[in-house]
Amino acid sequence: MEISDTQKKWDAIYQQADEGEYTAVRVLQENRHLLPTSGTALELACGMAANAAFLANHGLTTTAWDISAVVIERLKGSSAMAGLDITFEARDIVQQPPQAAAFDVIVVSYFLDRSLIPHIKRALKPLGLIYYQTFTQTYVNEGGPRSANFRLADNELLQLFSDYQLLAYREEGRVGDTQQGYRNEALIVAQKPASDMSA
Ligand SMILES: C[S@@+](CC[C@H](N)C(=O)[O-])C[C@H]1O[C@@H](n2cnc3c(N)ncnc32)[C@H](O)[C@@H]1O
Repeated sequence: MEISDTQKKWDAIYQQADEGEYTAVRVLQENRHLLPTSGTALELACGMAANAAFLANHGLTTTAWDISAVVIERLKGSSAMAGLDITFEARDIVQQPPQAAAFDVIVVSYFLDRSLIPHIKRALKPLGLIYYQTFTQTYVNEGGPRSANFRLADNELLQLFSDYQLLAYREEGRVGDTQQGYRNEALIVAQKPASDMSA
């Protein structure tokens, strides 16, 4: 099968990436108490899979997917991931989105493809949780993708999950003292309804 340009780009990045210390994103760190202590979790576009490690350490049976075969092979051989209950798979999540009603928790950080949102919603079980954190079009500091298409519009994350129970949300734009606070990104934790006609 032909390797896509997206995979080539990320494979090249992960060939160079150092072992380093990778930590889970803020939306998970600050909202750990909302996670179930058992069940299934999925990290989409996992990169170095710090979020997946966090979920597995929390007790969740975890799956982690990324388009880069290079990063997935590195993760499979990584001592940091050894012994953790994580199934890694090299997978284009846009071409092959997750199956319906399969996960209690889905985490996405620093990845945005709006076509995936309905699939994420379908893939969560009733009362499942979405943890999402990524860059916003309104920002204070440079960093992240240059294309607005890959950044959230104002309040967009809130709107994308407006049919969910909101548990945590943060987005501060350029309001007030921009040297402080949570800038350049938005984050959400939200719960799928018990019965969802769209699922
Ligand atoms: C900016 S990195 C973020 C990685 C990780 N989520 C994090 O927070 O560190 C974006 C990730 O998306 C992955 N990616 C891009 N397009 C993808 C696709 N179509 N399917 C699966 N993964 C994809 C890349 O390989 C890369 O690991």
